[in-house]
Amino acid sequence: MLSVTTPHALDNALAAWRQQDQSIALVPTMGNLHAGHLALIQHARRVAERVVVSVFVNPLQFDRAEDLAAYPRTLDADRALLETHQVDVLFAPSAQLIYPRPLHDISTVIVPTLSEILEGEHRKGHFAGVATVVCKLFNLVRPQCAVFGEKDFQQLLLIQRMVEDLNIPVNIIAHPTLRESDGLAMSSRNSYLTPQQRAQAPALYRTLQQLRTALLSSAEPIALHEARALKDLQAAGFLPEYLTVRRRHDLALPTPADRQRVILASAWLGKARLIDNCPLDLPHGP
Ligand code: PAF
Repeated sequence: MLSVTTPHALDNALAAWRQQDQSIALVPTMGNLHAGHLALIQHARRVAERVVVSVFVNPLQFDRAEDLAAYPRTLDADRALLETHQVDVLFAPSAQLIYPRPLHDISTVIVPTLSEILEGEHRKGHFAGVATVVCKLFNLVRPQCAVFGEKDFQQLLLIQRMVEDLNIPVNIIAHPTLRESDGLAMSSRNSYLTPQQRAQAPALYRTLQQLRTALLSSAEPIALHEARALKDLQAAGFLPEYLTVRRRHDLALPTPADRQRVILASAWLGKARLIDNCPLDLPHGP
């Protein structure tokens, strides 16, 4: 595996493969790699001849300075792990290289509407940061495809919208969320949980699944079910930010005709802000 830190070294690493028209898949990450990332990488290996993994803790997408400072940085361990997973190139640039100008003074990519709701409402500027860095990574790596996890479902939709709106020639591939055996979605932020909170944490996904079951078997208004689920989360020790049923393709509130839906939630458990989602496919009405 080649480990590079500059766009110039990245171009050198990719030049021969680009010349031979070998397909390149990008797996963008912020490091602190776990089995969830490895699943994305394995998928990338299946769909492309070459795999580039980027590790970059993107300052532009953090809305709170302390969150950026506390984010786990484990580049040496990440590199060692990637070595054993047949990754061709690790691209781990510095913040100075990605953002040579002050962050308030750079061009950014804004995906309207989708950036403003749910995660975007609770993390101001977050999605401008995500869209901007992913656009820059696409321009630097020029991959044919890129793999994103469904755990960050709103992020996935946002990136799909960005490439569509801006005609970016990258095929966005979604990969299902990887879960611990008790259902907790894998995330770098799980490391913020104390052992006791870790034992409580699976209640988030459990609540989403129970809500799905309830919605599939009852004609009561959605809002009633959402309110019950929110109470369940609070009873399990969470401080929920949102728990909501949305239509799947753009996360707007569903009309009765929208049968493909998704339940999304964000909730604090101690110092960890956890998010999760689960699909909800309603049978077609009469
Ligand atoms: O999902 C993440 O880890 C990040 O938001 C991403 C896509 C790597 C952009 O920094």
